[in-house]
Amino acid sequence: MKLIRHAAAALAALTFICAALTSCGLGEPEQTYVPPVITSPPKETAETIPPITDTEDVTSSAATDTEKETGAVTTEKETEAETTARETETEKTENPLGFKADLSAYEKYMDPEDRDAYLILVNPSHPVGKDYKPDDLDPLVDTRPDRSKRYMRLYASKSLEAFLKEARENGCKNVTVTSAYRSYESQKEIFDGDVANLMKKGYSEEEAIAIERKDTAYPGESEHQTGLAVDMHNMSSAQQAFAKTFEAQWLAENCWKFGFILRYMPDKEDITTYVYEPWHFRYVGRYHAQRIYEMHMCLEEYTEYLENNG
Ligand code: DAL
Ligand code: ZN
Repeated sequence: MKLIRHAAAALAALTFICAALTSCGLGEPEQTYVPPVITSPPKETAETIPPITDTEDVTSSAATDTEKETGAVTTEKETEAETTARETETEKTENPLGFKADLSAYEKYMDPEDRDAYLILVNPSHPVGKDYKPDDLDPLVDTRPDRSKRYMRLYASKSLEAFLKEARENGCKNVTVTSAYRSYESQKEIFDGDVANLMKKGYSEEEAIAIERKDTAYPGESEHQTGLAVDMHNMSSAQQAFAKTFEAQWLAENCWKFGFILRYMPDKEDITTYVYEPWHFRYVGRYHAQRIYEMHMCLEEYTEYLENNG
C-alpha cells in the first residue's frame, strides 16, 4: 500500500513536469524552416497608373519634404549649370578656337589636309625662279577698293577671307589688302622705282640698293611671288605706325588660327634681313603657323628646326 502511494506521487510529479515543459515550447519536435513565399506585386493596370502630365515634376513631386530640403534627390532635369557646361563642351568640340564668325566652311583651307604644301621658304638665299607663277590664283574679296584686284593662291585667299571676317567681328576696323601676289616684273618695278627715288635724294646706286633691300625684296627673292604673302592694314600706306594699332596687335596674335604667320618680326631682323613689317602676313597653313607662333620663330628658323628635328 505504501508502495502504491509512492508510485502515484511519482506519476503526479512527472505529469506536472511534462505540463510545464509543454507550456515553454521546449518539449515539441524541432520545426523545419520554411521560407516565406514572395509573390510579385500585382501588375498595375492602365487604370492604376497615374497619368503623367509633366515629366519634369514627376520625380520632385515624389520626393519627401526632407529630401527636397537636403537636396538628397537627384532629379532627371538638367540644371542650368549642367546645361551651360554641356553647351561649352559642344562649343569646344565644334569651335575649338572660339571664333565669333561662322568659319566652318573655311576650315579646310585654314587647316589644309596636306600640311606641308605651303611651307615654301623664299628669301635672298632661297630665290624663286623668274618665271614662277602659281596656277591657282584667286581674287581677294578684301582688296582695298581703290586698288586693282589682288590675288593669292586659293587656300591662302580663302583663309584670308576668314581671317578678316573674324578680325572685323573682334573690332578691327578697315583693314584691307594693299598687296598680295606680285609677279617678278611687278616686284622689279617696285624695287627699281624705290631705288630711283633714293638716288634722287642723293644716294649712290649701291647705297640705294642696300637701303632698299632692307624693305623690299630683290626681284625673284620676294615671297609675294609665291602668292602666299599679303600686305594689309588700315593706313594710307604701309608704315611702322601701324604696329601700335589695336588692329595690328590683333592680327599678329591671332594670325596662326587662320594659317598665317607674321613673317617679318621686330626681333628677327638679323635673320630675315628685312625690317619689321606689321602688315605683312604669310600663309603656311594652321599646323605649321601654330608651331611657328608658339615657338616664336621666323620661317628661316622654323625650316632649319624641321631639318634638324625631322
Ligand atoms: N617687303 C617684302 C620683304 C617683299 O618685298 O617681299
Ligand atoms: Zn609684303
